[in-house]
Amino acid sequence: MNIRIAPSILAADFAVLGEAVAAVESGGADLIHIDVMDGHFVPNITVGPLVVRALKRVARVPLSVHLMIEKPERYVEAFADAGASILTVHVEAAVHLHRTIELIHGRGVKAGVALNPATPVSTLEEVAALVDQVLVMSVNPGFGGQAFIPRSESKVRAVRALLDRERSAAAIAIDGGIDRDTIRRVVEAGAEILVAGVAIFHAQDPAAATRELKALARGEQPT
Ligand code: DX5
Ligand code: ZN
Repeated sequence: MNIRIAPSILAADFAVLGEAVAAVESGGADLIHIDVMDGHFVPNITVGPLVVRALKRVARVPLSVHLMIEKPERYVEAFADAGASILTVHVEAAVHLHRTIELIHGRGVKAGVALNPATPVSTLEEVAALVDQVLVMSVNPGFGGQAFIPRSESKVRAVRALLDRERSAAAIAIDGGIDRDTIRRVVEAGAEILVAGVAIFHAQDPAAATRELKALARGEQPT
């Protein structure tokens, strides 16, 4: 398993995003998770391709863009051009999911699919073998700092089983309420990419928090 930590800048200080990225990179961040919200698919509104492009100039690690937007296919090109390395769309938002995945791959970008807490794992069946990442939402999307939904742990196990059955090489990411109490549990269930917002950026020292979470995820004693 290739355990990776993906700090979510949603919880960072947006006035100094470049500094926030540099801090977590120095703590060993493997990816930067960018949450895009449109005020329709989720109640909140965040950032678009312009901010991804700006972060691409300063980030040394790949940018993983989580699209919480309706009709995500309309924006694949813009986010690919902006420098996203992974584009994740919600199965609930993409009516022609297969086509959207092909569109993302056609732009040379890794494709991820995300599931809301109420969405069954079976919705992945037809695309499991095609995608590079499955993102399990362990909170309802839209806001940082929410409590981890305990059932997400068994959902990760179910996704793992499906991916094995379909011989898919996709990595499982988990997003929402990941902190020092939940991180090891979800790794043991099969998650490899751990997204964390508040647990990192609301800590006094985001670099140290990144390092600590990564060590905990790997089952090591934090230094
Ligand atoms: C929520 C976003 C998450 C969010 C997680 O809709 O998709 O990426 O930043 O935040 P925490 O880790 O604070 O729950
Ligand atoms: Zn996210």
